[in-house]
Amino acid sequence: KLPAAVESLLAQMTVEEKAGQLTLMAAAWSGGAAVTLNPAGASSNFDGQLAEVRAGRLTGVFNGNGAAMAKRMQTVATRDSRLRIPLLFAADVIHGFRTVFPVPMGEAASFDPDLAERTARVAAVEAAAAGIDWTFAPMVDIARDARWGRGVEGAGEDVLLGKLIAAARVRGFQGAKGLEAADAVAACAKHFAAYGAVEAGLDYNTVDISERTLRETYFPPFQAALAAGAPTVMASFNELSGIPATANEWLLTEVLRREWGFDGLVVSDYTADEELIAHGFAADAREATKLAFMAGVDMSMQSGFYIKHLPDLVARGEVPMARLDEAVRRVLALKVQLGLFDDPFRRIDPAREKARVRTRANLALAREAGSRSIVMLKNEGGLLPLPRAGKKIALIGPFASGLHDLIGPWNVYGTDAEAVDLATGVKALVQDPALVSVTAGAGLDGPIPGGIEAAVVAARAADVVVLAVGEHARMSGEAQSRSAIVVPPAQMALAEAVAATGKPVVVLLRNGRALALEGAVLKAPAILVTWFLGSEDGPAIADVLFGVVSPSGRLPVSFPQATGQEPYHYDHKPTGRPNPAGPLQEYKTHFREFPNQALFPFGHGLTYGEIAYSDLDLGGGQLSADGKLVVSATIANSGSRAAEEVVQLYIRDVAASVTRPVRELKAFRRVALKPGERKQVQFTLSRADLLFIGQTLKPTVEPGKFQLWIAPSAEAEGVSGSFELV
Ligand code: IFM
Repeated sequence: KLPAAVESLLAQMTVEEKAGQLTLMAAAWSGGAAVTLNPAGASSNFDGQLAEVRAGRLTGVFNGNGAAMAKRMQTVATRDSRLRIPLLFAADVIHGFRTVFPVPMGEAASFDPDLAERTARVAAVEAAAAGIDWTFAPMVDIARDARWGRGVEGAGEDVLLGKLIAAARVRGFQGAKGLEAADAVAACAKHFAAYGAVEAGLDYNTVDISERTLRETYFPPFQAALAAGAPTVMASFNELSGIPATANEWLLTEVLRREWGFDGLVVSDYTADEELIAHGFAADAREATKLAFMAGVDMSMQSGFYIKHLPDLVARGEVPMARLDEAVRRVLALKVQLGLFDDPFRRIDPAREKARVRTRANLALAREAGSRSIVMLKNEGGLLPLPRAGKKIALIGPFASGLHDLIGPWNVYGTDAEAVDLATGVKALVQDPALVSVTAGAGLDGPIPGGIEAAVVAARAADVVVLAVGEHARMSGEAQSRSAIVVPPAQMALAEAVAATGKPVVVLLRNGRALALEGAVLKAPAILVTWFLGSEDGPAIADVLFGVVSPSGRLPVSFPQATGQEPYHYDHKPTGRPNPAGPLQEYKTHFREFPNQALFPFGHGLTYGEIAYSDLDLGGGQLSADGKLVVSATIANSGSRAAEEVVQLYIRDVAASVTRPVRELKAFRRVALKPGERKQVQFTLSRADLLFIGQTLKPTVEPGKFQLWIAPSAEAEGVSGSFELV
């Protein structure tokens, strides 16, 4: 229901003005983010865009240039356009605004939804002060193929973690005071649906998928985001079993609206309606418009198709006026919810914009989020943490220093120039910075003359090498699929040469996806996964390197044994010929070279403690259909350092009417353990935790035996047993 005054505006609108409310464009602010980030579509014709606003042909813009730009545009909309309908300002606020937080995949490694909520809140407060009403986030696509570059924007491969992080980010963006609050930013769950399931991990590629997998794996994070209050959804670029998502009536109307009761707004992705022609689904622009609109895409991004073709389609009766009004109502409802009709300038305040960004508290949160996102894969011989005094440290690698590749892919408003690099972070923590040398050794994507020789000299002169290698920021993100998910060859050559000096090596991986580690990188005694940590990248890494913070991150994606193992996810099906561990057997499920297991599985991550799991208590071992089962285990830290352990509970439904994964994560908890401390950790399971999508494609649960693990990763034994659902 719209307020009467807004409903009366709808009654006064021409069909063109209605189509205008459904037309969103990249901001044409000369030299702005829109121009550099969307070069194909954006123009620097700001005056031309203002003329469109004046004529009521534009609902809003995205990825513009802050409060000053927004103020000029909103003034024209609310003063000079016939109906004075306020504009909506959208942006890709994916992992922070001017304060940049870890890339979402990295932040998901914290296994800490509360942290994701807090960083999203800060991002919203900063973005809203710069005039932004609506973010194209969270990206909630489950990503199970590490070749796909866009996994970096989501929470990884697991459904439970994906759901919890999706909901947390929505809560964070939108705040607790209602969307009309000046510091609230409306969330958008994207990309609906199964964008992460593209064949071969190739971005934009075909998705051929069963309805069961959609419902069991790809839909739940969207449902969680909507349940948390996300008022908008973005349709995805990919086709779904023959029907592009952007024109998929079953997906956008049958499931999203009729089944789930979603009454918010659906926006297309960038020119995705236009792309229906390239998909071979629409013959021309007019048909593409009609197909997308009638399937359920309310707002068109960037193609201009709706403003061009909807008026004629309505005039000829091919699109009912009722459908047009329905879509416009949804846009106006969002503008009402955001408080824009009461005060179109409520988020546009250049003074507030300056005061709210990159505050000391926000940067402190970036540092905290950074250190909590780091995953320690290995730490042989307790090489880490490094002492802060008395050791000569050689920082080697293209990511050892320099203001580049710190904030990572897809951040429109932050810059590497405003972030802190590794060398600075390390030198700030050690007692004598003169003991720290810095050598690039290799370029980001190729050798540098004399690089390896200089690195070997530096390594020889040091007590310990910290080798910072991996992917640069343009190797992950949109359209950055990789056919070999490895550390680039020139950096591998550097790693081999440095390892050959015999000095102990700590590898710091820079990455926007799971990598297939090999050679000297894999053999290094200590490996930290450091993703792209944002504004406080260097200090966050230094905190973990020197033990100011004990590493506590866990892999949100399985690291495979080789690229050819992709798509690998821990919750795969068993097959009829399983051979998960031990010697490889003939005619069993595995590649010739390695077992059907991850190199480093989902959930893996070490701490500076010595952690042991014991004393599984299965609470009687029987779960009645309407009851609860309380299970517990004891987690002990026998080490000499404090640790935070992410304790994970997995189950396996042993026999069911639809085959079930070898393990499924059902709960996890962070537990702080002082040296020598032990704690009993309890989880409560109920019937809802055992649901699966049954033969009739409805959620179902069947009595029978379930295996259960309380374990430090998806492929670790931890403590295990079984219970019955009766
Ligand atoms: O929000 C993004 C989307 O995720 C990918 N295409 C462009 C959009 C707008 O920038």
